[in-house]
Amino acid sequence: MNDARLNDDANERGSAQNHGASVGLTADKITIRGGIPLVGRIEVKGAKNLVTKAMVAALLGETPSVLKDVPNISDVRIVRGLLEVHGVKVTEGAEPGDLILDPVDVESAHFAAIDAHAGSSRIPILFCGPLLHRLGEAFIPDLGGCRIGDRPIDFHLEVLRKFGAVVEKQPNGIRMSAPNGLKGAKLELPYPSVGATEQVLLTAVRADGLTELKGAAIEPEIMDLINILQKMGAIITVDTDRVIRIEGVERLLGYNHRALFDRNEAASWAAAALATDGDIFVGGARQPEMITFLNVFRKVGGAFDICDDGIRFYHPGGDLKPVIIETDVHPGFMTDWQQPLVIALTKAHGTSIVHETVYEQRFGFVDALVEMGATIQIHKECLGGHPCRFGQRNFNHSAVITGPTQLHGADIVVPDLRGGFSHLIAALSAEGTSTVSNVGIISRGYENFIGKLRLLGADFDLEG
Ligand code: EPZ
Repeated sequence: MNDARLNDDANERGSAQNHGASVGLTADKITIRGGIPLVGRIEVKGAKNLVTKAMVAALLGETPSVLKDVPNISDVRIVRGLLEVHGVKVTEGAEPGDLILDPVDVESAHFAAIDAHAGSSRIPILFCGPLLHRLGEAFIPDLGGCRIGDRPIDFHLEVLRKFGAVVEKQPNGIRMSAPNGLKGAKLELPYPSVGATEQVLLTAVRADGLTELKGAAIEPEIMDLINILQKMGAIITVDTDRVIRIEGVERLLGYNHRALFDRNEAASWAAAALATDGDIFVGGARQPEMITFLNVFRKVGGAFDICDDGIRFYHPGGDLKPVIIETDVHPGFMTDWQQPLVIALTKAHGTSIVHETVYEQRFGFVDALVEMGATIQIHKECLGGHPCRFGQRNFNHSAVITGPTQLHGADIVVPDLRGGFSHLIAALSAEGTSTVSNVGIISRGYENFIGKLRLLGADFDLEG
């Protein structure tokens, strides 16, 4: 451990853990000495996949909004930059992790400024509806995001056109205008896309008339965005058949909202506890949004205690057991939960199957695990309970994991956010030393993960 870096981070860590201050990750490579159980308490803040959308929603208000429990992650910093180039004033609130978003002086932004801030985020596409309402135009650069499939935006463009937007593809992005304003529409999604559902919500709340969305996504992050929009003055109903209806209103005001906790981060640390024979208390985690994960965690051999201020995840001893997992939309097993859990499955006594039905190419991370000694085969067939969209389309979207295997240290390069966290877990649970490079990607979605690893007793050095 580099002592100077340790001291700096240690000072930061105290404030970061207690107050959520940022711990910028300057290093991009970590050398990890594995085999140490992770034990201790960490805190999770607001959900990456909610707070970024909540920040965009502030554009719709005529007065400032306050968003609480915002994690200091690069996805938030990217959206903050995009809001600021559009004239939104973003300042820190009274409590650490609080953001004040003042949209009073919203203005068009130059393409170059938008492109400079968009980075690897997919969130810019969600600016369309609010900017079309506020300014009558929007420009969206070509999008980034983790390479876990093609990640098209056809559903987004389709619904925006139905609201009355004019969409023009340009060499470096998409320009939109709404010459006649935006009108409520009858919509149906071919797949319950989270992003496309958010696109509809952020556009319909100020559109003229009623919008009906069939085949909507209803993830907890979507429901929390609906909480926020309702606070602003929106009228939204969610029916039992997952049809969302929105009555457009004339004006919306700013909101004051504490963000839903990050269940993906909570599940990632739970998986780390299981894979390292550890015991991690995740402050801020709540049972209702994690029921499906908790069932699988228990079936694999993990144990958990639900407390008022969080959830304790631990390996109570005994062999880990194989499971068959099929990812799905909520309330199914989230696609973002499978990568970190796969490491524990390499230690399970028997054969597990993960059938990834949400993204067509989300097993790129297993190559490094096989190098570390895991026995994992990837298949094009739908190996699970139900055939999915990818079955006849030549995508390697089912994994067969045979255990138990003992992982050994290796040199790993992080491919994407959740796969990258699974690589950290693999290095932490492996025998010997691993170097994990390109770890900057992990700070896109895991606030101060370095400080948290230190708190939990991991043995590592930062490099680069
Ligand atoms: C959100 O991505 C999350 N990201 C993802 O988390 C999450 O895995 C995903 O929802 C599913 O829960 C954010 O919220 C920023 P989708 P999103 O639209 O909205 C296809 C993480 O690690 N599709 O529900 O992009 C798409 O290709 C990230 O935190 C279209 O075909 O997901 C995919 O196969 C990873 N056309 C499926 O739908 C479209 O226009 C689900 O995508 C849009 C989507």
